[in-house]
Amino acid sequence: MKHIFARKSIAQLHAEAEGENRLRRILGPLQLTSLGIGCVIGAGIFVVTGQAAHDKAGPAIMLSFVVAGLACVFAALCYAEFASMVPVAGSAYTYAYATLGELAAWIIGWDLILEYTIASSAVAHGWSQYFQEFLGTFLPRLPHALSKTPFDYDPGLGRIVSTGAVIDLPAVLITALLTFILIRGIRESARFNTAMVVVKLAVVVFVIGLGAFYVDPANWHPFAPFGYTGLSLFGKTILGQTGAGGEPLGMLAGSAIIFFAYIGFDSVSTHAEEAKNPRRDIPFGIIASLVICTILYLAVAAVITGMVPYDQINIEAPVADAFRQKGLPWAHFIISSGAVVGITSVLLVLMLSQPRVMLAMARDGLVPPKVFGAVHPRFRTPWISQLVMGCCVAAFAGFVPLRILAELVNIGTLLAFVVVCAAVLILRRTHPKAHRPFRVPFAPLIPLLGIGSSALLMFSLPKENWWRLIAWLAIGCVIYFWYGRRHSGLRAARQQPPLPGEESAP
Ligand code: ALA
Repeated sequence: MKHIFARKSIAQLHAEAEGENRLRRILGPLQLTSLGIGCVIGAGIFVVTGQAAHDKAGPAIMLSFVVAGLACVFAALCYAEFASMVPVAGSAYTYAYATLGELAAWIIGWDLILEYTIASSAVAHGWSQYFQEFLGTFLPRLPHALSKTPFDYDPGLGRIVSTGAVIDLPAVLITALLTFILIRGIRESARFNTAMVVVKLAVVVFVIGLGAFYVDPANWHPFAPFGYTGLSLFGKTILGQTGAGGEPLGMLAGSAIIFFAYIGFDSVSTHAEEAKNPRRDIPFGIIASLVICTILYLAVAAVITGMVPYDQINIEAPVADAFRQKGLPWAHFIISSGAVVGITSVLLVLMLSQPRVMLAMARDGLVPPKVFGAVHPRFRTPWISQLVMGCCVAAFAGFVPLRILAELVNIGTLLAFVVVCAAVLILRRTHPKAHRPFRVPFAPLIPLLGIGSSALLMFSLPKENWWRLIAWLAIGCVIYFWYGRRHSGLRAARQQPPLPGEESAP
């Protein structure tokens, strides 16, 4: 059992990093911030905002964004401390392996697989909805059967209903196309991302700037039609109103859903090896992208709920539709096309990230290296892993509705936040001398607030998500004890290596 706490040495991480083809250290604070924004602004603001405002929070969705943003800032500071301690490629999985041990690393890695796969499927839906809006401005609409998933959750009825459709075909097609491109070896480059970010930001600023002229403050009353809370514990409402299906309603419940819009900021930490000054710029990039996104989200939410009464907000393409409802078809066209470009970049980065995590886990022997560690001889990409991921994402995107996918990805990510915040506290106690170029300020307060706010949002999600998460982690533990533990590359390790800075500590 001792082995499950075995850690990877920092020297080992550095040696592994040397062995791969690495990009040069070219990324400065601005590029890192732009990478963060590139991975964050997507289906969340363009689609999920509508669902959350319409079904859960009303105009109080603005506050929901603040609460979710705060939870992210607390977690982001903890991520930054980790990223500065172990500034090599990888994400929370690598940090955990170097600091908490193999089992914790496996759990985080397994959780990240869920996050990236399900988030990609949800984002593919968002892409599909805006793509259909965009096409609809100059072509006949797609046949209903091919336009959406065969079932969806109806919050009014409180149950799953048939939509009469068969498959969300555009979502499947974009997934297939991006899988093909990623196998062929297109990697995200800072320049490509910057161009995408510019388009996205331009559209968001356009929405805020033009939309502000069409806001009717009367639409902000009542501000919180479902109340300011919305907290339940395994299906039992503790605070706030309950929806027809037993799900919590209110501002907090809105935060738990809209949290989806922030997912991806942690991707900045995966670029630690390409950063010019990772110790200073990675924390800066994470925090700056979060702050910018929060301000923009707040403004977009204010504009959309101010333009359209919350119960008339379109839940499929809310931002573009608000302008259509105001009789501005040209603005509808600009927003739909910009959203398609913006959401494509999020999908590309998300789909690129999951096979990287799998590759790292395969190299450590925790998942079969022949499948997940296979690198294509010509394209030099983890092609089998990418293909497996593409098939899973296409299946989920084709048949499972965005609402269900978004909630599931939120609970998985919030769990990772809780673990990362807790890990910072544990390590401060167990390894006080380890070198920490960036330290979370006001510890232990900030990590505790991170744990508390993430847990609060987890409890504000409908209970089915808990069961799905528990099932996912149980499957993960079975796989770890059946396969990972026995094939682990670290199995032979007898002693725990020291943490960075402790190697030479007296
Ligand atoms: N934050 C990402 C988005 O909103 C997942 O699309």
